[in-house]
Amino acid sequence: MRYQNDEVSAAAAALKKLFDRAEDKRSVLRAPELAALYDRLKVLPAGKARAEFGKEVNALKSELDQMVREHSSASVVRKPIDVTAPFDVNAPEPKLLPLSSGSKHPLMKELDNILEIFGRMGFTAIESRQLDDDYHMFSSLNFPKDHPARDDYDTFVTNEGLIAPAHTSTMQNRVLKAGKSGLEKGEGIRVIIPGRVFRNEDLDARHEHTFYQLEGVYVDKGIHAGHLIATLQAFLEEYYGQALEVKTQPFYFPFTEPSFEFALSCPFCQKKGCQVCSYSGWIELLGCGMIHPNVLREAGIDPDVYTGFAWGGGIDRLTMMKYGIEDVRYFHSGNLTFLRQFS
Ligand code: DAH
Repeated sequence: MRYQNDEVSAAAAALKKLFDRAEDKRSVLRAPELAALYDRLKVLPAGKARAEFGKEVNALKSELDQMVREHSSASVVRKPIDVTAPFDVNAPEPKLLPLSSGSKHPLMKELDNILEIFGRMGFTAIESRQLDDDYHMFSSLNFPKDHPARDDYDTFVTNEGLIAPAHTSTMQNRVLKAGKSGLEKGEGIRVIIPGRVFRNEDLDARHEHTFYQLEGVYVDKGIHAGHLIATLQAFLEEYYGQALEVKTQPFYFPFTEPSFEFALSCPFCQKKGCQVCSYSGWIELLGCGMIHPNVLREAGIDPDVYTGFAWGGGIDRLTMMKYGIEDVRYFHSGNLTFLRQFS
């Protein structure tokens, strides 16, 4: 906009320059150049010249208002930030915490340890999903529709019918399908599946709604329950760094036949009896069994040619026993006093 009055025109040029340079664009509305024009207006004698001058000053003020408004609506687009990154909450500007300030969560540390041992035993690791469906949670695992065994898993379901997996067994069908062609070339399936699982539990020191499991799947020609027991025993002896006894007792899972509950002699008291094993000398650790022929068939694997075993157990439980952690709820509490003990 062009101004007729020389004073207004000079002030307009100065104020626009100021606007371009200012970090806080609103400061132009408080600039002395603008205030001086209003002061001048106050002392002008009434008349045509004053009216003309007043009109131009008001027009300039409106132009500046408009510039400030346009700038602030354009600057709503902010630099993207990673909301999951650990920020220093005390810094005036968003600033990432240095790596040295944090440490691995005890569950993830334990998981690394477990993966490393199974890695040496020839297993590959695949993470499970955190959102799944009814087929992978139940149907592909030989749970008939409306079978009461489905109720053993207090499963969270979304309004759309998606499922927050209640066990890592949801991955069995995928792992079996993916390994089928290798199997036919003579490469056995050896996969472990760590993952986060969810159950609608009544929470207490031993029950959380969110916890971690480790699933294992092994399929090849001629695999039997002896391989299952030896594999788990070899892992546990490596994990606890000592010789252990193991035992199984019959159990029921729809996806294994036979199914077992697997127990080990207490590594903390060598069967003498202690708090960890409830003075029984044994710790019931996980569920396992020979993969049900229907589960193999569902993945396109012929159960008359191939057999396999699977297991699933809690990572939280292993970690709690190892460090004498008394309450599972500490893991998700974000309690720094708890976490710093493991840093
Ligand atoms: N998915 C079972 C659970 O969470 C544990 C389990 C049992 C997994 C037997 C297996 C298995 O792979 O063969 O209760």
